Amino acid sequence: MDYLLINGGPRLRGTIEVNGAKNAALPIMAASILCESETVLHGVPDLADVRHLSLLLSKLGVNVRRDDRGDLHLQVEDEMNSHAEYELVRKMRASICVMGPLLAKRKSARIAMPGGCAIGDRPINLHVEGMQSLGAEVDLVGGDMHLRAKRLTGTEMFLGGPFGSTVLGTANVTMAACLAEGSTAIESAACEPEIVDLAEFLNKCGARIQGHGTPRITIDGVSRLSGCEHTVIPDRIEASTFIIAAAITNGEVRLRNCRLEHMLAVVDRLRQIGVNIEKENDEVVVSSARRLDPVDVTTQPFPGFPTDLQAQITALLCLADGNSTVTEKIFPDRFLHVAELNRMGARLRKEGPTVIVEGVKRLIGAPVMASDLRASAALVLAGLIAKGQTRVNRVYHIDRGYEAIERKLALLGADIQRLSE
Ligand code: EPU
Repeated sequence: MDYLLINGGPRLRGTIEVNGAKNAALPIMAASILCESETVLHGVPDLADVRHLSLLLSKLGVNVRRDDRGDLHLQVEDEMNSHAEYELVRKMRASICVMGPLLAKRKSARIAMPGGCAIGDRPINLHVEGMQSLGAEVDLVGGDMHLRAKRLTGTEMFLGGPFGSTVLGTANVTMAACLAEGSTAIESAACEPEIVDLAEFLNKCGARIQGHGTPRITIDGVSRLSGCEHTVIPDRIEASTFIIAAAITNGEVRLRNCRLEHMLAVVDRLRQIGVNIEKENDEVVVSSARRLDPVDVTTQPFPGFPTDLQAQITALLCLADGNSTVTEKIFPDRFLHVAELNRMGARLRKEGPTVIVEGVKRLIGAPVMASDLRASAALVLAGLIAKGQTRVNRVYHIDRGYEAIERKLALLGADIQRLSE
């Protein structure tokens, strides 16, 4: 099993290119099931999650191929199978985003229930209720949700849950409604940039979607979709993680392919902390004051502060000059990094869905691990500045969402290596 060995200290300097967004690429790849000709995607990162979905799509009859330039080609070759099996779904919860396309195009979707998840309970009731509103019949068969509909019919629905909107639920219903008869309106739709990117992709394929980026999306059904060529938006979570890496090492880093308009809540909190973030031509330039100020952070659906950066900003706030609070409003149990950061000398105290962060002068290297992608990224960030050596175990979690994170950090001057046991 691979691990990362980090000697903390070096200030990061240099320029890196941000990848295309994992969470935009995954539903767009699934949407290829709807398309009657080839789809070509630019900027899809080479990540474990992308390889995983490629495998699932190939089992569902989609030919997925990456060419020499790194573009991903997807073309449906066989529509016989519409069963996403447990063996694949349990390894990646985002596999659920094949539900809408399978149901709309093949009239049947049998999807294994994803089961437990390290970041907490992750129900799929809103996905299923959305499909039922469009006319699907649903049975639970051997741990699988079996959805069937001879035809889907557009309708008006409320898709909000106890924690607000659902990103992949909105993606699933939007994809299914593209081929429904008549118009669908989704109220309390997710407004995330990844949903906007999916809708723009679908519109290029011939769909008629409006209102994406607002809480009310409307979709006029069409009879068929073709494939298209599309460039996936930059990954705002990867970009923000590198901004925090620059800030935590008191470095100066330039980011290419970074869209600050997708990151305004993050930029706001980081500026309050004392991080300088400026746009210069096509690049974003990051530097930070030596003294970091404490702040309060609350995660929320977009345009609020993203849950996918909660762990990383906590790592930064460990070194602030005073007390901060970090409150998780999307996944109230997403705190796998807290005990591990404390092993590195942080002073974090969890009270319900809030972590109280007492700033310390320094973190100290240690062997650590976390069973979640973003929590593991937070440990890497802490390792970059910790005194001595940090060993981050179970790197496969990081590989799910960051392409070669150690190579990018090393390019910026970090002392980091990937080793195998
Ligand atoms: N929820 C329900 N019922 C549902 C679906 C969701 O109650 O049917 C609740 C969830 O339990 C949660 C809230 O709604 O409290 C929001 O969950 P959401 O459905 O939006 O999450 P998701 O779509 O499954 C995506 C990202 C996650 C990211 C969340 C929140 C992808 C592939 N995944 O998940 O990304 O944390 O939105 O922004 O897009 C990550 O990249 O590390 C990651 C976990």
